[in-house]
Amino acid sequence: KKRVVSGVQPTGLVHLGNYLGAIKNWLSLQDLYETLFFIVDLHAITLPYEAPQLSKATRSTAAIYLACGIDSSKASIFVQSHVRAHVELMWLLSSSTPIGWLNRMIQFKEKSRKAGDENVGVALLTYPVLMASDILLYQSDLVPVGEDQTQHLELTREIAERVNNLYGGRKWKKMGGRGGSLFKVPEALIPPAGARVMSLTDGLSKMSKSAPSDQSRINLLDPKDVIMNKIKRCKTDSLPGLEFDNPERPECNNLLSIYQIITGKTKEEVVGECQNMNWGSFKTTLTDALIDHLQPIQIRYEEIMSDPGYLDDVLSEGAGKAAEIADITLNNVYQAMGFLRR
Ligand code: TYM
Repeated sequence: KKRVVSGVQPTGLVHLGNYLGAIKNWLSLQDLYETLFFIVDLHAITLPYEAPQLSKATRSTAAIYLACGIDSSKASIFVQSHVRAHVELMWLLSSSTPIGWLNRMIQFKEKSRKAGDENVGVALLTYPVLMASDILLYQSDLVPVGEDQTQHLELTREIAERVNNLYGGRKWKKMGGRGGSLFKVPEALIPPAGARVMSLTDGLSKMSKSAPSDQSRINLLDPKDVIMNKIKRCKTDSLPGLEFDNPERPECNNLLSIYQIITGKTKEEVVGECQNMNWGSFKTTLTDALIDHLQPIQIRYEEIMSDPGYLDDVLSEGAGKAAEIADITLNNVYQAMGFLRR
């Protein structure tokens, strides 16, 4: 069975971009593959954050996975920091990762520019090495993520190949190992629609947790009236009718795409239904569809959060299963890299 891993950072609230770009696409994978979904709390400290909020956000994100339909009887759900091998492998990988590769990362450049020098810790630069560790530890085949993670996935592949070449194969055999590759080289799985959900206030920038205005995103847990208000006030244009793929109308394309994905309709169906609508009636249609889609998730979320024991059990079972797989890879890498084992 192929193995699939992915994760979300517990920073801020999970929004529609995280859901449509990632979590929603995990659902069908759990029936086909061996899946591991984690909450990447160690990544969440790479920018200034509120310590008292971290554990709450971690639990909340885990509850959102479950509420969205990730099933703990099929997938392993766990917290990244609960499986120590992530940080250990990261250190080993970092010795084979040229700084130049990290300096090239678009997200590093963007985030460090926004944060200002004082707030940029070393971990923001080495963040993608930790992400590579998250993926390579599990010998993953596929990594379902939104488009903004493609460069990090490419880097993960480069690190895997480099370490395989430096320490794998015959060299590993000489160290007493099995020989062959230390890591499987994984592939990104980017959804055909929803891979880049845009901001509600600017169709040219992506929906993000860190954007200052909450008005720019729909959070999965937004109550009905908040969703209504955000869609009512979102940016539109003054051209007649509605259409996909017109570069002059990024907001229009974004809102139609959101509508298409959450209703499960085809593009043609949405064109048929909406091309002659005015913004007022489309906004009502979209608001209703969003509320219909998100309300059941919100109800399940409340149920899960009201039973902390259940959530703890899920996370502890998930971490146990994950650690078993992770330790095998980690031990192999220590061996191949020549460490004295106790
Ligand atoms: P994070 O927490 O920023 O985002 C979680 C997932 O949501 C996707 N995403 C989007 N998709 C579509 N439109 C958007 N506007 C949008 N914004 C976010 C992201 O692509 C991602 O799939 N580094 C990762 C977390 C991570 C990870 C991993 C992922 C750490 N280790 C290992 C996969 C495998 C991140 O910061 O995602």
